[in-house]
Amino acid sequence: MLTEEQNDLITRTGPGTPGGDLLRRYWQPVALAEELPHGGAPIPVRILGEDLVLYRGDSGALGLIGLHCPHRGADLSYGRIEGDALRCLYHGWLMGKDGKCLEQPGEPAASNYKDRIKHPGYPAARRPG
Ligand code: FES
Repeated sequence: MLTEEQNDLITRTGPGTPGGDLLRRYWQPVALAEELPHGGAPIPVRILGEDLVLYRGDSGALGLIGLHCPHRGADLSYGRIEGDALRCLYHGWLMGKDGKCLEQPGEPAASNYKDRIKHPGYPAARRPG
């Protein structure tokens, strides 16, 4: 019989858990290609206990980043695709497909606050099925 601790060790897959860290080293299927047509809206996905948003940028590149905006937590699946980035519709932060914050319209031009923002971003690619 497993202890509660052993059970958690082998069943928890969220960010920062041993199982989650292991599984994040491997490709995971998150959506079907037809769910993300060119020009289509971003879609929320939940994988390994983490809420993410998947989108196809204007170049066709896929982005898979945290669902909730690092500013005030708005749902980025309602965001607007700009190039290969995703703009939050609440206050306009622009998030790159690697999770980097690229723009913060409300910040002074000389501010480097965006460089200190940490947001989940994972590689995403289409694989033939
Ligand atoms: S909540 Fe996204 S920019 Fe403010």
